[in-house]
Amino acid sequence: MKQKTIIIANWKMNFEPNIEAGLAEKFVSGLTRLANDVEIVLCPSHVGLHQVNQFIKKSNLVLGAQNMSWVRQGAFTGEISAEMLDDVGAKYCIIGHSDRRIKLGETDKMVNQKVLCALVDDVLPIICVGETYNERSEGKKEIVVQRQLEAALKNVSGQKPIVITYEPVWAISPGGPAMPDDIQPMIELIYQSLIDYFPLELVEENFRIIYGGSVDGSNVSGFLELDKVSGALVGAASLSYDKFKTIIEQAKKNTC
Ligand code: 13P
Repeated sequence: MKQKTIIIANWKMNFEPNIEAGLAEKFVSGLTRLANDVEIVLCPSHVGLHQVNQFIKKSNLVLGAQNMSWVRQGAFTGEISAEMLDDVGAKYCIIGHSDRRIKLGETDKMVNQKVLCALVDDVLPIICVGETYNERSEGKKEIVVQRQLEAALKNVSGQKPIVITYEPVWAISPGGPAMPDDIQPMIELIYQSLIDYFPLELVEENFRIIYGGSVDGSNVSGFLELDKVSGALVGAASLSYDKFKTIIEQAKKNTC
């Protein structure tokens, strides 16, 4: 997997659109130079996508969304389709984040339906998998992650780029971070699963595996140095320009 390192800012439900737009403007003016070497994706709230894109579209930073519908169109009040995300300028969408799986009952099947809808409508999925603290304590982390991954990728051809995020739920701030030694075997498990499902050339060409959970400027290098880790999904530390910039600077060093 020799693709560009990707660092994704997941702003979750933290800021109003005008604040998101202000932060995006700052990120664009301060990070454009670094974005030649590191793919930087900003995922604001749905209502902030349009405003944030006004700054991003003139730059080499990339727009992503935090969620999308499991169906393509129709009477689904309040839902946002992949086509709508594509229309507003989003290249990526986070799918199956543990916030949604755990707090909103999003199932493996819905995650798969979302992935398939995204791929049809030219939105690239950032699929999140990861075990809870209890699942880990019960020795089930491998079973859970393999189940989530296999379900998410059902009927996926592997012809388009996909990002798989290993984000153990217990490692998300304020809980984490995981230690690199904890993560490496799980990354290996995900990679082995991918090459079971798809031809090796497609895995190498189209899949990136990244880590998420309490990533910050002090630990990101340790994660990016791991074999087959091509980036990070960042929550809390992406809400601050200075903290996020440090992460990107470290990521750039890792590409050199
Ligand atoms: P933190 O970086 O705040 O731990 O959040 C991780 C996350 O959930 C990103 O999607």
